[in-house]
Amino acid sequence: MTPDEIIRTFLDHYRRLDHRDAPESSLIPPPGDPVLFTTSGMHPLTPYLLGRPHPGGRRLVNVQRCLRTTDLDEVGDRTHLTVFDMLGSWSLGDYDIATSLRWGHQLLTEGFGIDPGRLHATVFGGDEQLGPDETAWRTWTALGVPVEANDAENWWSNGPTGPCGPDSEIFVWTGDGPPAGTPGTDGRWMEVWNHVQLRHHRHADGRLTPLPLCSIDTGMGLERLELVLTGGRDVYQGERLRPWVAAVRDRWSLGEPELRVVADHLRSAVVVLADGVRPGNTGRGYVLRRLLRRALTTLWRDDPSRSLAELPDDPFRDTGRWFRQQPDVGRLRAVVADEERRFRGLLERGRPLVDRVRARGPLTERDYHWLHDTHGLPRDLVDGLLSVAVIEP
Ligand code: SER
Repeated sequence: MTPDEIIRTFLDHYRRLDHRDAPESSLIPPPGDPVLFTTSGMHPLTPYLLGRPHPGGRRLVNVQRCLRTTDLDEVGDRTHLTVFDMLGSWSLGDYDIATSLRWGHQLLTEGFGIDPGRLHATVFGGDEQLGPDETAWRTWTALGVPVEANDAENWWSNGPTGPCGPDSEIFVWTGDGPPAGTPGTDGRWMEVWNHVQLRHHRHADGRLTPLPLCSIDTGMGLERLELVLTGGRDVYQGERLRPWVAAVRDRWSLGEPELRVVADHLRSAVVVLADGVRPGNTGRGYVLRRLLRRALTTLWRDDPSRSLAELPDDPFRDTGRWFRQQPDVGRLRAVVADEERRFRGLLERGRPLVDRVRARGPLTERDYHWLHDTHGLPRDLVDGLLSVAVIEP
């Protein structure tokens, strides 16, 4: 199945079950929102999960582009991405978790044809405040899916305050042989889908109070599901990442993890740019700057004379289409080129300073502070300089 077919199958399943399409949001939340980026499909629905009636009714479905900086250090492995598409379904105080899990199981096994024997679930096992999620446990057991109970890992929240609750995660076996162990003991179980019961509101003082509605929020990673359905080794073999990997691999000789990081960061930067963010030193602009500079640092470690201008237009243009955006590719590439020029300039000015400090021995915290406070060289730039041998003009 292609990503387009996966999206259609997902939406059709829930539309048949009377869910209405919820509009997709940009990666940039509205003013006043405390988070920098849209991190999940539920985020734009927060007011409705807190009780406001949604114009689409009580059953919703959509696909939402998301960005997670919390996973940044894991990007480069088989399954983590900075920007990805989340397939989401919601019950705003309508049906319960047992229904959500049964419909989810039906979609995975009948709609997508996944062998039921390759599934494993986890549920909330209780903590000092709340009891275990017996309904989810019983539902999985009745469906013949093995279950494992956890505490904190099966509690979902979108930040320190706001709607939160116990979740049940669905894992698919991605190993070569028959399934072994549990998600907690064997990393070949890959999480694909999360069904959260948003029943609680966490206040700033840590207290939990019940929400006016018991809602269900589910989210499934498109790129991970594609990996499962195509039998791929990692998400980078997927239709929407392969062109980035190929474009970079044809021009630079990088190791596998570095290649993945560059492909992820460039693709993510393009989606962020297409939603209107520009590189800067704070907030969203800084996240974008870090993505581009981390990609450049990795590329220049291999060959500092090369430029992102050598990449073809296709992945830039296709990424906009895949994420339902309409970027002006020429303008977008001009921003990337400008950021590359600035970064090269910074590296050229910073190199003699860093070399001088390094000649005295390994850099200390005081050296980092001095380079930053006196010369405006941030830590990641200094680390970049330490790892890039020569930057040619
Ligand atoms: N909000 C949950 C998550 O992001 C499910 O959509 O995992």
